[in-house]
Amino acid sequence: MPPRQYRLAKPQARFSKNPDPENKFLFSNENKLLVAWWPDSAKKMFPHSLLFFTGDKAHRTRRLLMKLMKPDDLRRYVGIMDAVARCNMREEWEGKSDVKAFSLAKAYNFCLSCRIMIGIEDPDKIMKLMMKCKVLLKGLMGIPLDFPGTAFYKAMKAAEAIRRELKSMIEERRAVSSEKKMQEMDLLSWLLVTEDDEGELMPKEEVLDNVLLYLIAAHEAGNATLAMVMKYLAQMPHVYDEVLKEQTDIAMSKEDDQLLDLEDIKKMKFTWNVVCEVMRLSPPAQGSFRVALTDFTYAGYHIPKGSKLVWTPHSTHRNPEWFPEPEKFDPSRFQGKGPAPYTFTPFGDSDRTNTDCHSRTSSSSAPPSILGLVIGSAFSELT
Ligand code: HEM
Repeated sequence: MPPRQYRLAKPQARFSKNPDPENKFLFSNENKLLVAWWPDSAKKMFPHSLLFFTGDKAHRTRRLLMKLMKPDDLRRYVGIMDAVARCNMREEWEGKSDVKAFSLAKAYNFCLSCRIMIGIEDPDKIMKLMMKCKVLLKGLMGIPLDFPGTAFYKAMKAAEAIRRELKSMIEERRAVSSEKKMQEMDLLSWLLVTEDDEGELMPKEEVLDNVLLYLIAAHEAGNATLAMVMKYLAQMPHVYDEVLKEQTDIAMSKEDDQLLDLEDIKKMKFTWNVVCEVMRLSPPAQGSFRVALTDFTYAGYHIPKGSKLVWTPHSTHRNPEWFPEPEKFDPSRFQGKGPAPYTFTPFGDSDRTNTDCHSRTSSSSAPPSILGLVIGSAFSELT
């Protein structure tokens, strides 16, 4: 279906159904004909973050962040993730007759983000920070009315409070400034000390906003994915049994207290195919916006500069042309080469997210991204 243009307020076009050429057009024209667009509320909350970088600055920052996703770093994260998952299982799940899976998945995911991004392990500090992030998230996508009592006002206050804490962490690190501290290299330390390819350090305000963004971005969609996978597994015992078998085989190959490593995560092919199938049927993110940088014509439609364009994963994910019997839960769709390019887009498919925590979802391979590691580690402990 060609994109339509609505002229109610500002012009808008919806890109959703045909992976090629619509999704391909939208995702491959980033920074050429269009650029990511986020609401004013997000702009006020993370003004100096990656979300609002364009052109060369965006590329340089993404290349800098990608340096943190090298195989050695991923190897280090797997150990941390498995340790956090074990601790979460021991303290929150074991021996309980009744557990609230969603809130526990949230707690696990947030603990992990705190460890990897800002090096915090203290449960009280993590809990306080999680509360502030909750308030921030509530006001993030709302109307940016900045006066006492509104969700946006509370969210801005929460963002300021988190920034203050991050600032004091920076000061503490400077004061201690031992080699060891810096070598631990959570995201915060990394951004403070690492030069980009032009030899420039990231200004402090950008470090603060990017770390805040990552804490928030890693949170919501990851929680929803973990919780939805648990829901589907509970509803489909035959799929659960197969996931359990794969996880048990991996567990049996390890010593009792030996943590998972990257090779183990790569063996979780069936588990990852299940996760992909869950994200196909229930995409954790509903899509996002772009704005036209210039006038252009697409499929005979004139798209004026300033138009908002929205893409959503739902329509392609349920299109029988790309996913036969789309309502059927079938992880084997992701075997081999997996779905055709631009058809499976839970993370979008542009350079914006292919170089971030998600990585291009070449579904045939085991999870290579941060997200893959998070899910893999969680499920090795859950099953
Ligand atoms: C199931 C889990 C996740 C899903 C479904 C998801 C989905 C998405 C989507 C749809 C976007 C917008 C893409 C676009 O506009 O082209 C996005 C942006 C982003 N995500 Fe995720 N995400 C997930 C997990 C994560 C994790 C674990 C991290 C970090 C560790 C992360 C960091 C980011 C960042 C920084 C952005 C903004 C990128 C930019 O616009 O420059 N996400 N994500």
